[in-house]
Amino acid sequence: MCSIIGYSGKLISAAPLLVESLKKMEYRGYDSVGIATLNDGNILVSKGVGKVAEVDKEMDLNKLPGQIGIGHTRWATHGSVNDKNAHPHYSCSSNIAVVHNGIIENYQELKTELTRDGHTFKSQTDSEVIAHLLEKCYQESDSNVKETMMKTCQALKGSFAFVAIFENGIIAGARFDEPLIVGISDSALFLSSDVLGFLKYTDKSVFLDNGDIVIIDHNTYRIFDLNKRIVARPITQVAWELGSTEKGKYAHHTIKEIHEQSLTLLKPFQEFNDFQNFCEFIRDASNVYITGSGTSYNCGLLGKQLLSKFAKIKTEVIMSSEFQYYSDSLEPNSVVIAISQSGETADVLHSVKKAKENGAKILSIVNVPTSSLARMSDSILTLNCGPEIGVAATKSFMGQLMLIYKIVNILSSGQMPFDKFNQRNLLMMVKKVLNSDGIIQNLVSSLDTNIKDIYILGRSIHYPIALEGSLKIKELAYIHAEGIAAGELKHGPLALIDKESVVVVLNPTDETYQDVISSSNEIKSRGAYIIGISNKKNEVYDRFVELPDVDSYLYPILEIIPLQLMSYYLALKKQVDPDYPRNLAKSVTVK
Ligand code: M6R
Repeated sequence: MCSIIGYSGKLISAAPLLVESLKKMEYRGYDSVGIATLNDGNILVSKGVGKVAEVDKEMDLNKLPGQIGIGHTRWATHGSVNDKNAHPHYSCSSNIAVVHNGIIENYQELKTELTRDGHTFKSQTDSEVIAHLLEKCYQESDSNVKETMMKTCQALKGSFAFVAIFENGIIAGARFDEPLIVGISDSALFLSSDVLGFLKYTDKSVFLDNGDIVIIDHNTYRIFDLNKRIVARPITQVAWELGSTEKGKYAHHTIKEIHEQSLTLLKPFQEFNDFQNFCEFIRDASNVYITGSGTSYNCGLLGKQLLSKFAKIKTEVIMSSEFQYYSDSLEPNSVVIAISQSGETADVLHSVKKAKENGAKILSIVNVPTSSLARMSDSILTLNCGPEIGVAATKSFMGQLMLIYKIVNILSSGQMPFDKFNQRNLLMMVKKVLNSDGIIQNLVSSLDTNIKDIYILGRSIHYPIALEGSLKIKELAYIHAEGIAAGELKHGPLALIDKESVVVVLNPTDETYQDVISSSNEIKSRGAYIIGISNKKNEVYDRFVELPDVDSYLYPILEIIPLQLMSYYLALKKQVDPDYPRNLAKSVTVK
């Protein structure tokens, strides 16, 4: 989603730094780009539609002069994708410019009021009201930036973060339910929606709380609450996030991150993760809910099955976008386990907020320990798998599975073995499956380029993986894909199967094996092409992807890998960019 960067410093001039920072945050998804710098008391704005490099090339963004500036990549919510709607937005007299992330819910009424007062709007965005409102308050407060920010924030409704640059050289930001982080180095101060925006220069960060307003006056910063009181926020070091964001020898981040799974698999098992404390909350709870979106939700579905099977703990898994409709009826002494790679997904944060209001304890599984979700939680476990740049969740899903397996292991008092020995053995098996990269590439090249539908079948603990695999195919290759519980075929989906269909079956030799073979035969007799993923070959499969033998409960961890690889190679076959799928953003920070 939108990315924000603000800079005031002496390191290098503002424009090239802003452009470079926006490139670092490209993975979040966007459609247009812009920056504003301050030069001799004038605010200069340059912006356009397209990738950062394209707009920079066309408009020479990096040549804007000045040592202070703000930058933005926009992901359109209000108003179409065009130059006028790109940020920054000027106030009428160009004495202030603003970049914004999130949604201003009352922008229509504010726009009507401001228009009545004589302000002229140039865009269709909700964001532009902030620039005009700031201008009005700035005038009324005799150019007092603090007063201006307070009054403006009090008038805005919604979830937002914004950064404004003023003609007097001050940059100011506000955080209301959208992330905003201050980066502190000896010779510069930054304001960004993502630590990657300034990590090249400093790992010292202040994570603003909701309702915080920050004012950067050249080399000093002060943070206020809405009551104008100065507030102190701790400086955090974000060392792990210094991990590489380069592609290395790989063509894309996505394939790099798929292969990185062998390196990140055991990363969650470090001292900073207090599993006992986390599990204690679950033990003490009368009701356990799991929530998440997309891939993280699919991980939750597997968690539910394993917790029930091995630890005899019943849970309810509710996708975060639906959770709000349940949260009023949460029972006393409930626990909500929220799963989120970014920890910034709006649906997840909203669910957790409501659950908290209703008295639930919040446990979270996140990749970013400093994220909004982590900060709202009673206990957290972190994946520690480093930045995931590809929009498709791959190594983070693996990390989430690892944590879920460990939790089940503890809560089942070892009924589901998952100690260091199992983990090391698993790592070897994961490496083996990753080595099947060439086989999958070859398999995909033999498929028809115009495949319309792919179905993935699995039963029991394989069903969540069928859902996750189909999500990957849709997202990366733009092919309609559906994960189906194999037993449901005869209740409807079988009607879809014909000789054009490609069906992947997840079928290791566990209690589900024979039933899935029967389903495969039914499908085969309707002419479909079958790809079997299993540790045992069967003649019903047209193509076979072999998995090594492991304890049956571990197969979900292995079988997702061929599906990730398949999705990646399908994307290449369709000549689409696997790292940045169309219409999608990495962090979905608006509802
Ligand atoms: O950061 P989160 O885990 O909360 O993100 C949730 C989903 O938006 C995310 O998993 C999405 O479905 C992925 N792009 C799927 O690959």
